Amino acid sequence: VSLDWVSDELAAIERSGLLRDPHTVASAAGPEVEVDGRRVVLLCSNNYLGLAGDPRVTAAAALAAKRWGAGSGASRLVSGTLDLHRDLEEALAEHEGAEDAVLFSSGYLANLGVLAALTDEDDVVFSDELNHASIVDGCRLSKARVLVYRHRDVAHLKSLLDETPARRRFIVTDTVFSMDGDVAPIDELAALDATLIVDDAHATGVLDGSRADRADVVVGTLSKALGSSGGYVTGSREVATFLRNRARTHVFDTAPVPAAMGAASMALQLMRDEPWRRDHVRKLARFLATELRGLGFDAREPAAAIVPVLVGDPGEAVALSKRLFDAGVLCPAIRPPSVPDGTSRLRVTVMATHTDEHIERALDAFAQRPRSTARRRTSVHGVFVTGTDTGVGKTVVTAAIAATYREDGARVAIFKPLQTGDADDAAWAGAVSGCHAETGVRLREPLAPAVAARLEDTKIDVDAIKARYTDLRRDFDVVVVEGAGGLLVDIDDRLTMADLAAMFELPLVVAARPALGTLNHTALTVEAARARGLDVLGIVISNYPDEPNIAERTNPEELAKIAPLLGVIGTLGAFDVEAGTRPDRFDVRIEGLR
Ligand SMILES: Cc1ncc(COP(=O)(O)O)c(C=O)c1O
Repeated sequence: VSLDWVSDELAAIERSGLLRDPHTVASAAGPEVEVDGRRVVLLCSNNYLGLAGDPRVTAAAALAAKRWGAGSGASRLVSGTLDLHRDLEEALAEHEGAEDAVLFSSGYLANLGVLAALTDEDDVVFSDELNHASIVDGCRLSKARVLVYRHRDVAHLKSLLDETPARRRFIVTDTVFSMDGDVAPIDELAALDATLIVDDAHATGVLDGSRADRADVVVGTLSKALGSSGGYVTGSREVATFLRNRARTHVFDTAPVPAAMGAASMALQLMRDEPWRRDHVRKLARFLATELRGLGFDAREPAAAIVPVLVGDPGEAVALSKRLFDAGVLCPAIRPPSVPDGTSRLRVTVMATHTDEHIERALDAFAQRPRSTARRRTSVHGVFVTGTDTGVGKTVVTAAIAATYREDGARVAIFKPLQTGDADDAAWAGAVSGCHAETGVRLREPLAPAVAARLEDTKIDVDAIKARYTDLRRDFDVVVVEGAGGLLVDIDDRLTMADLAAMFELPLVVAARPALGTLNHTALTVEAARARGLDVLGIVISNYPDEPNIAERTNPEELAKIAPLLGVIGTLGAFDVEAGTRPDRFDVRIEGLR
């Protein structure tokens, strides 16, 4: 049978300006991504909280794959139900305030499964006209009669309900509409005489609270704010058991992959523990919408993280998207059939990990203004100095980097987020380099921060540390952050120094000793950093003796095989802060910094 008709159809799609040709992205869905060898600001991802590339989440995915395998091997009802699935179902139910949760391989499959399982030919489903395609397809799969009501129009819905008796009636709606970014009138829908099913895909992690107290069934996805992949449904224990038996997209689908479940479990914890992500993403969305309107765009007020910018004509939407891309911003045009005819748009979305600079770049691209040089910053705006161990010269390395860039004319700040014991590393590095220096949290005992904090019975306020760092980043050209101890030292029950570097989005510089043993310690540190998705810019050797022994003589060359050798600093004995003397070799230059 000939498939010639396909080329005719394709030609027709192309003529109407609706042929899709997506960009290929060569990096994780961070605030910036690599496309065609260029770094561009990502302004269209559903990774709203920035958790998809968070090293704690990717490490949890890797760990789950190692322990439970790459695939789960069978459907849930055969041998695919892993403790990992059950634990996540319990955590999701608890988070939503529901009795139970059922996982699916995607949010799409969750909508298909729920709508087809709960309804049949004697029932009626009332569906908002702008519901997501997976709800539309779930309705198609259901044998029930489907009545579409005008977008968020409760009066219209009521009149349809009044004139449509049925054995069972269901209302189904997106909570936050995927292409319009507005919110369904959940309270009013809940008051109507019908079973309410809501799809929380774009609400989870961004809107406050849960819908489980008003909706009978909540559908969710792990693929957006939770940065992973998979779908879920929460409801009563009976509904969950019923779906486990009757939802065909659950029963006849191989159980969700372990890596995705591990990632989602970690992301769920982080979503709850780091409320700054939700607050920040909402603030950014509102700010961007206001600024875009100021530039003359038809940007709608966002309820969550989605800012629709209405264009109308599909060709014009594509042209705007192309101009943005040329200016370094990725945000494809959304055209029919994803949105109704005549409403083509750019669906702008923000992420908690977008910095002020990303947002400025995005606005400049919309305004088609070249970025002013005063605002331009290089891709590396700072570094995080870690060590192979404690006492290996991190403070000296920090001072050397700061001094090098201050002497080049940059405004440089030194930041020591955590200081344990009596030492005052930041003050010393500030005095040696002549740079602004400050300390975040001080703890009395010279121990790992988590241990010192426990002994003092205090909790380290990581949000406050992050906020202080954000201020420094805004006020200085370069921020040199000095970690405490080595890379995997604990800050609290879950966070390590590596996580702090990831949170600051800073690449690492590893301070290494010159002596025997340093090759193994450095290799371990660099490997652990890379496994967590951290960028290692290179290694600096400090306290290098004037008369090196055989190990010290050969180490620099060997260390350079592990990561670029950025500098070798002379002996500590050469420092005299009062007199302003320091070792001869004190330069640490880093490509791309400033
Ligand atoms: C409202 C809504 N529901 C469901 C889905 C499907 O979720 P998933 O991507 O996990 O299949 C999406 C988007 O993809 C969505 O926007």
